[in-house]
Amino acid sequence: MGRHVSAIVVAAGRGERLGADTPKAFLELAGRSLLSRSLSSLLMGGQVDEVVVVVPPGFEERAGPASECNGLPVTCRAVVAGGARRSESVRIGFEALSLATEVVLVHDAARPFVPGGLVERIIAAALEHGGAIPAVPIPDTVKEGAGGFVQRTVPREALCLSQTPQGFRAGLLKEALEVGESLEQDFTDEAALFEGLGYSVRLVDSCTTNFKITTPDDWRLATAWAAATDREAFDV
Ligand code: C5P
Repeated sequence: MGRHVSAIVVAAGRGERLGADTPKAFLELAGRSLLSRSLSSLLMGGQVDEVVVVVPPGFEERAGPASECNGLPVTCRAVVAGGARRSESVRIGFEALSLATEVVLVHDAARPFVPGGLVERIIAAALEHGGAIPAVPIPDTVKEGAGGFVQRTVPREALCLSQTPQGFRAGLLKEALEVGESLEQDFTDEAALFEGLGYSVRLVDSCTTNFKITTPDDWRLATAWAAATDREAFDV
């Protein structure tokens, strides 16, 4: 196909909601750093040509390219220090990408369980529609609350939870990031910027196992899941 796919893996958050002293991406999850696991699960399928890793200032050395790409056939183009806000970290990562890039994937280092086949479907949908995100339906009933009381029940049929890796045509993402910078406001994902500009963002079916580790409970769940999936990998 001749396409060139780059990935920005954002790991520059402090992970304050986890309550650890070390930034989340550098904590060991069942024997390997969270960053290493997230990189492996994103890159395993071989669709990504180059990756830029965005880490907290001072952690560039610890994310050494050779050790973190785990022998996969990917160029680790750079490890760069991120910004105070997620959107700033993505912008800094984008600037370190090669000019030939056609599709850019943005992935949270806090998601170490990217399901097999998802990356390919995101890339294909991003090429076709401009932008694409993994999404899962909301299983619970959704309430809007205020002051500790239910205000109303929100119909959930049209709602979904957005995950990463999110994929975008590089030129469109560049434009969206530039607009985002001028707005001086944080966005919890890049698709929000895209939607704001009126670009299409395709929803791609994903799995709940592609969850983001945010709280200590998430960490416990991820530890058990990592151990179980590592065991399965040895069994085959
Ligand atoms: O804070 P949250 O869990 O939503 O962060 C999602 C991802 O964005 C994490 O992988 C985190 O490391 C990254 N991030 C970043 N720079 C920031 C804040 C968050 O790279 N300033």
